[in-house]
Amino acid sequence: MKIKILFSLFLSILVLGMIAISAGAYNMAATEKHWVITEKVIEWVRVSSIAARAGDLEVPALDDPSVLIIGAEHYDAMCTDCHLSPDQQPTELALGLYPQAPVFHQRDLLVGEDKKNEQLKEYFWVIKNGLKMTAMPAWGLTHDDDTVWAMAVFVQKLSGMTEEQYIALTRIDTNNGHHHDHGHNQGHGHD
Ligand code: HEC
Repeated sequence: MKIKILFSLFLSILVLGMIAISAGAYNMAATEKHWVITEKVIEWVRVSSIAARAGDLEVPALDDPSVLIIGAEHYDAMCTDCHLSPDQQPTELALGLYPQAPVFHQRDLLVGEDKKNEQLKEYFWVIKNGLKMTAMPAWGLTHDDDTVWAMAVFVQKLSGMTEEQYIALTRIDTNNGHHHDHGHNQGHGHD
């Protein structure tokens, strides 16, 4: 009997909740921040999900100097609208995002090869697959794994990178016809 009462109570709460939501009670606005508890739950889900999927990846050989250059080129063309770079101010696009895109050059460098390796695999996984409901695109639909690894390497190298270092790496003329989006940070620079 008790179980029946509890079950009816649970059902009533569920139905009331659904009525409230269809009446528009939940605010989907990007300007309406999550509660701290919701934020913690989302973070826990994201971190666990990425760790579980990135853990078994095999990191290929990435020490060829061209890897960093390829990563830098792609980053500069496709990622700075949201993730910014050491040589620019926050874009209007980046300011409006929720959740906010992390600013990689303001991150602390990780210490220890194991931790760095884990981070590299997690970066690779996120860049390749994107993240639901965050605006982080899946670049693996349009880029092969080698290019995604190159981007992951560059994103990791961005920690603590200065403006001069960034410019030196991203303004190399590789003669491959790739266009850079000098000076303007409002997108449409990728070709
Ligand atoms: C339209 C905006 C947008 C663009 C463009 C974009 N990202 Fe993101 N990215 C995000 C957001 C927002 C997040 C954070 C999601 C979250 O908090 O769950 C994110 C997260 C990430 C992460 C995970 C960071 C972490 O803390 O582990 C990586 C790595 C990443 N992006 C790399 C890239 C790279 C490389 C590019 C370009 C090829 C790129 N992003 C382009 C919006 C973007």
